[in-house]
Amino acid sequence: MHNFNPFDEKPVPIEKTFMDWSVIYPCSYNKEETDAYTKCRIVLMNGTEFEAQWFSRNFSRHCPDNDLRRELAILRRIEQQQQKRISCLKPKNESILEHTITYEQLAVDLTSVLAKQEPNCTVRNALNFALLEDFDHLFRYSNLLDLEYGICPEKLVGGYTEIMPARPTISEHRHPVDSIFPYVNNKKSDILTKLNINIITAAEQQTMNYYMNVAPLYDKSDLGRRLYQEIGLIEEEHVSQYESLKDTTSTWLEDLLLHEYTECYLYYSCLLTECDPCIRGIWEECLCQEISHLHKAKDLLYQYERKDWQQVIPCGTFPQILCLRPNIDYVRKIIATTTGNTQSCSSIVPLGSLSPCAPFFEYQDIMNHDVCCVPSHNVIDARIDCKGKDYRFQTAPNPLPELRNRCEDNVTLARIPECTPSETSVCGTTENCCQCKANTSEGTVFW
Ligand SMILES: [Fe+2]
Ligand SMILES: [Fe+2]
Ligand SMILES: [Fe+2]
Ligand SMILES: [Fe+2]
Repeated sequence: MHNFNPFDEKPVPIEKTFMDWSVIYPCSYNKEETDAYTKCRIVLMNGTEFEAQWFSRNFSRHCPDNDLRRELAILRRIEQQQQKRISCLKPKNESILEHTITYEQLAVDLTSVLAKQEPNCTVRNALNFALLEDFDHLFRYSNLLDLEYGICPEKLVGGYTEIMPARPTISEHRHPVDSIFPYVNNKKSDILTKLNINIITAAEQQTMNYYMNVAPLYDKSDLGRRLYQEIGLIEEEHVSQYESLKDTTSTWLEDLLLHEYTECYLYYSCLLTECDPCIRGIWEECLCQEISHLHKAKDLLYQYERKDWQQVIPCGTFPQILCLRPNIDYVRKIIATTTGNTQSCSSIVPLGSLSPCAPFFEYQDIMNHDVCCVPSHNVIDARIDCKGKDYRFQTAPNPLPELRNRCEDNVTLARIPECTPSETSVCGTTENCCQCKANTSEGTVFW
């Protein structure tokens, strides 16, 4: 199975891949026995299919050629059937909030795995930046789960991912002008970079959509509904950041090819890393369907633009596969070195470098002028009031002394310059990582 190139595979005819009801509605997983990373893969692939769906719909809305729109409609119907099949793997007895823990665990471990293998420093820094925010979301939702359901969050994450604060959610609310990165030029970048941008954009977009939908459906408390609203607004920032990295000069058909290639890569990675035999069978069937989509996208690109697939994906052989696994030491290193950062225009910068009239402070003053009204802070306060300290699952004390007090939630770190460590590094590494400057639309970005 090494050196797999989906362009070398013989595709099944597309019309043969429509599914019937017995396939579309699968047996859902057992929430007590299923591995946490199997649940994460299901959330990831649901989000990937969601992106396939909405990319295709927007393509169709901008396409004047009805023959091409019919081809897109065929592909899109199968993406929709795949999404239906995958999303109902979630069992009926798993609550909205339990499922949310999987969303944020996926965000933490997927982002870490992608950041570790990402060759482009702009993209890697973007990943490390949002990593600490999703890590903090996991801590806030876990406290809500413990408080309102009495369920142990450590068990849900399988002990794979630590649960403790990082950049406090209150400090993540930035002015929208500070959410755009320079886009990455596909012609000059590694295939892994193109895949990583597509994968993380779809995953974060799915998280944003999920919170948009479930905030009003959370029926346990107003506090929970308010927390979904708040964290949903941060996911909105994350989607803006990640999608801004996508090459804006690609044509719709080039982008379609890259979308299908990304789906092939993800299902192939899921197939090779899945421990649940039933779910592995689903990944295998989906891979087969995606290989048909990829070949269709390749043919359409040639038919309408006279371009060979190699002009978009020079070598079709997959790079190293994506494997979800624990990243405890990595996350600790990023917390220790970059928690005090924020975004300013298109750069990641230490909070202390902002001028007092920066948009960040203006926006913070509008949203968070009364700290007692901020839901992510209220949740921790409520847990402390009830049980004397916040809920954590940690293998050692927090890397930052500022985040070790379990009896008082930190609401100033990365928000108030005087309360933020000044020795923060920009990218979490000491190596010189400016070599990718030429691959971005604005040249130098992080200094
Ligand atoms: Fe798909
Ligand atoms: Fe998050
Ligand atoms: Fe996120
Ligand atoms: Fe597809």
